Amino acid sequence: MGLHSHDEVVLLLGAPGAGKGTQARFLAQTFGIPHVASGDLLREHRARGTRLGQAAQTYMDRGDLVPDLLVVDMIVERLSQADAARGALLDGFPRTLTQAQALEDALRKRGGRVRVAIYVQVPTEVLVERLADRWLCKACQASYHARFNPPARPRVCDHCDGELYQRADDKREVVSKRVAVYLKETLPVVERYEALGKLCRIDGDKPIQTVREDLLEALDQTQQAVPA
Ligand code: AP5
Repeated sequence: MGLHSHDEVVLLLGAPGAGKGTQARFLAQTFGIPHVASGDLLREHRARGTRLGQAAQTYMDRGDLVPDLLVVDMIVERLSQADAARGALLDGFPRTLTQAQALEDALRKRGGRVRVAIYVQVPTEVLVERLADRWLCKACQASYHARFNPPARPRVCDHCDGELYQRADDKREVVSKRVAVYLKETLPVVERYEALGKLCRIDGDKPIQTVREDLLEALDQTQQAVPA
């Protein structure tokens, strides 16, 4: 992708469990840009007990979205940090049309833009199965799956030896709520980028390595072809 232009961001859109985090970590490393995940940032705030973290907690536990204003400020602040000056990979943001508009306004003010929105598509029934057996690293947030992507040692992160845990909002009933919220609030965002000619669809219902290769190829192609 070699994000040559200043301040271009790539969006990774998809339902809960679509594999955004799994792929984003790899892509960000490959291209040397920060992986900015709204869910990870919110969980960090919760762990630190900040006011934002406390405000976000009830929404996250229920599977609802955290109010736009809180999330937008958090992301705009993150994108203003030095390491994002040459672009970023956004994972899980924007999730509503309001967030999309706020992001585009903030980028425009500093001469940036959304370069492409990648939509990782996975059938709904697959999502529940993926999330029910997901394990995450407490330290570096790397994502594993008991069957599809197991760590080399049980409950230990391959990357940093951190302890693995299961997210409270991966319980079946909360996942159903998260998927419903996604269909109502986030599909319109997908449609927006489609209408703008910036959407790239990827079939996420394939093995992790295949999805990774498809993403690399798609990003390569969009390098030349995305409208301003
Ligand atoms: P967030 O943390 O963003 O969760 P999410 O979008 O629901 O996404 P996930 O992290 O659950 O899934 P993923 O797509 O990253 O899947 P992963 O790669 O881990 O948000 C959590 C909460 O925070 C929200 O509910 C909301 O309250 C709040 N929030 C966050 N952002 C917000 C925003 N912008 N506005 C308002 N509120 C916000 O993969 C899942 C599993 O599948 C893993 O086990 C993995 O190993 C496995 N897997 C991955 N790919 C494959 C594959 N190809 N084949 C087989 N298994 C695979």
